[in-house]
Amino acid sequence: MFRNLSLLTKMTLVIALVLLSFFSLANYLDYRRETEQGIGNAVEKARLLSLGAIHAREYLSDHYERGHIVLSEQRFGLIPVVASGRIGQKAADDMGYRLRQVSNRFRNPDNAPDAYEKEGLSRLQGEAEREEAYDMTTIDGRPVLRYLRPFRAKLSCLQCHGRPENAPDFIHATYPAETDNAYYYQTGELIGAASIIIPMEQVQAGIRRAMRADMLQRIGIFAALVAALSLLTRKVVVRPLRRLAGVIREVIHTGQFHRKLTPGGKDEIGSLIATFDEMVDRLREQSAVLEESEHRFRVLTETARDAIVSFLANGQIILFNRQAEIIFDYRQGDILGVPVDRLIHEDCALLRGGVADYLRDNADTAISGLQRIVARRRDGSPLALEFSLSMAESDGRIFYTAILRPTTRDKVKNGPNPLS
Ligand code: HEC
Repeated sequence: MFRNLSLLTKMTLVIALVLLSFFSLANYLDYRRETEQGIGNAVEKARLLSLGAIHAREYLSDHYERGHIVLSEQRFGLIPVVASGRIGQKAADDMGYRLRQVSNRFRNPDNAPDAYEKEGLSRLQGEAEREEAYDMTTIDGRPVLRYLRPFRAKLSCLQCHGRPENAPDFIHATYPAETDNAYYYQTGELIGAASIIIPMEQVQAGIRRAMRADMLQRIGIFAALVAALSLLTRKVVVRPLRRLAGVIREVIHTGQFHRKLTPGGKDEIGSLIATFDEMVDRLREQSAVLEESEHRFRVLTETARDAIVSFLANGQIILFNRQAEIIFDYRQGDILGVPVDRLIHEDCALLRGGVADYLRDNADTAISGLQRIVARRRDGSPLALEFSLSMAESDGRIFYTAILRPTTRDKVKNGPNPLS
């Protein structure tokens, strides 16, 4: 089907297809880059938030130790991990994020991990070197980035998360060793993680907006490119070819080699047109030469004083000159293509069996000398003739030419007597 489309349609289709795949690829790559960038930005924020909380915790515990500040039930909110968690949470709230400190062995049920956090914690437990883990997922159908930064137990943590008997009294009292799971940690062991949730809906909407603007711009460029290229194709390729085809058609119809084209340039199509013009020139010369020789031949046969009849081996008449018209009383147009036997009278002894049969058996004698026959005019009347025959070949076909002349006794009635 593609083959039958016009050149312009084909070119436009191909150009459009190439550009479309190019633009689609560019769009896809852009989308991927933008998405990665959006995720990267969110991860960076989560990192800052979690590091902020961790630094706050370290700062607090450092200064309590140095200032000999004793924690108590009344100062519960000042416990470094509690304070840093709550401060971090406030900062997160301001940004619409969520920050929690979670653990598989939680002390406070509020810090129990959800499914994602539980899975992430076991992942982090397996990889001691890992400093963070994040994924794009959804919560209630909304896109979110989930980020975990592990807390590994330091010596200072063991004070409240090590052996219960070493823990401060109020910790010991609030979280009895029998029911609490957050004791007996060893240094380096994973205690829990800061868990941050960043809603990505707005980020993604922003990406989509940017993509849409980009895409519109690209569609504009795409349409302009396709239009420009197809215009160029039309001007440079299609139109010159159409003109050339038109001239060729005209040459075929009229048989005249007069129309010529002016090449638009020196490109391939220009040289095609120049070659065509050259061919037309040659053909014109050749046809002039041919016409000239044909004209000479016609004058020669038409002015001959003898009748000349040529016919093919199957008897079909192919030439019938003016003098033959006169003596047989046939018009050239009526006799061409007719079997030559039509011109033989039934009384002719020599050719009674038909010209073809006679030639098959007596070609040599027929060609070597003058023969006498009785021919037949159009009205059926007999006509005594003598003739000489020659044989020739043209385009692989044998044809015979008979030169005929009425014998002196039988004069032509309605034409000049060639012998008088
Ligand atoms: C002064 C005692 C104390 C010290 C020191 C301490 N914690 Fe805790 N930790 C607690 C208490 C109390 C809770 C429960 C807080 C709450 O109810 O929100 C807790 C909770 C946690 C939680 C939340 C999960 C849970 O069990 O509810 C994590 C994670 C945690 N601590 C990690 C650490 C790390 C890591 C260190 C060392 C850098 C540390 N803690 C040092 C007392 C302490």
